[in-house]
Amino acid sequence: MKTGTIAARKPGRLIERLARSVRKSGHDIQSVCRLTGIEAGQIRFLETEFGQYFSPDGGCARLTTFDDYQVELIQRLHQGLFVEGRTVSDIHLELQKKTGAGRAPVHIIAVTSGKGGVGKTTLSINLAIAMKRGGNRVLLVDGDMGMGNVHILTRLTPKHTIADVLQGRTAIDEAVTQGPGDIHILCGGSGVSGLADMKAAVIAQLGQRLRLLGDQFDVVVIDTGAGVSSQVLEFIKMADDLVLVTTPDVAAMLDGYGVLKVARESGIACPAHVLINQVDKPEESDMVYERIRACSERYLGDQPHFLGSLKRDRSLHHANRERQPIALVKPRAAAVKHFDRLAKILHPKTNGKSADKTRGTL
Ligand SMILES: Nc1ncnc2c1ncn2[C@@H]1O[C@H](COP(=O)(O)OP(=O)(O)O)[C@@H](O)[C@H]1O
Ligand SMILES: [Mg+2]
Repeated sequence: MKTGTIAARKPGRLIERLARSVRKSGHDIQSVCRLTGIEAGQIRFLETEFGQYFSPDGGCARLTTFDDYQVELIQRLHQGLFVEGRTVSDIHLELQKKTGAGRAPVHIIAVTSGKGGVGKTTLSINLAIAMKRGGNRVLLVDGDMGMGNVHILTRLTPKHTIADVLQGRTAIDEAVTQGPGDIHILCGGSGVSGLADMKAAVIAQLGQRLRLLGDQFDVVVIDTGAGVSSQVLEFIKMADDLVLVTTPDVAAMLDGYGVLKVARESGIACPAHVLINQVDKPEESDMVYERIRACSERYLGDQPHFLGSLKRDRSLHHANRERQPIALVKPRAAAVKHFDRLAKILHPKTNGKSADKTRGTL
């Protein structure tokens, strides 16, 4: 079925009739139900979900009367959501584009890998802090289902975790905790039962909710688990950019390529960026990237972008052991500058300057 646009259509006949009949005071909800054939519960639902488009001040209070623009909006939203089966976030994005309402959609970056222990969590935390330092409002999500340790490396004891959000016990807003460096964190949990086999569809719903956080955050960084489980793929699916972390280790590299392959085969088309971590010799990172690039080009018809490499760095490891982000304990460390640079490449609005999309080695 051809999907219509929500805000751009010309008023239909019904609306013309409504416009003729509308009194200055507008229609109460019963008359809107009668005129449109839409149930009151659905109208209230649409009002709650899309409150900012109903009243100029963006308020979400229940309306007692509806003018003809609002009745038209109810019809269009009802058509999109309940007849065409589009998602709430999809419709929000379209309305934001058309009306300029709300802020720019949130930029979601997923950090992933084939093998564990390569540095995803280290990169995710430090990238989130660098983006915050660069003027963005940042949410870090621990998406390593059942094995999450962002809270450990940031010294947090969260009241709520991603499990509470996914299992519908807590709203995202309530579960998010203030973390070091002024970032916000949706913590995961280690050994939380049920998380490891959380259904992909439930994670996809979280993705839709994260997309709607544009008025609270500019960037969401997701630390996914390792490998190609359906949970990891679901987190990657939400992302606008995918960062694949590997070490020069052959097995880590091959598994990293495996993630990229499965992601592409699953129809995930977002730009992919490769970071080689824990590098001892700079020349090895070029070789590792070249192997991933060549395989991707040959078998996937696609070349991931090279984000460069990060040296094996004792001060970074030490900061992790102290459970403190390096930017807070050693702000002048070379690694901190490197994370700042990566932040600008991945989210060019960082610091308000556009970044040069080149690679770099620390
Ligand atoms: N560039 C680096 N230099 C030194 N140690 C690192 C570096 N990156 C990560 N590490 C260390 O490697 C280990 C695994 O890192 P972590 O971020 O937890 O990986 P993952 O999230 O992929 O499992 C940690 O002990 C961490 O301190
Ligand atoms: Mg980790």
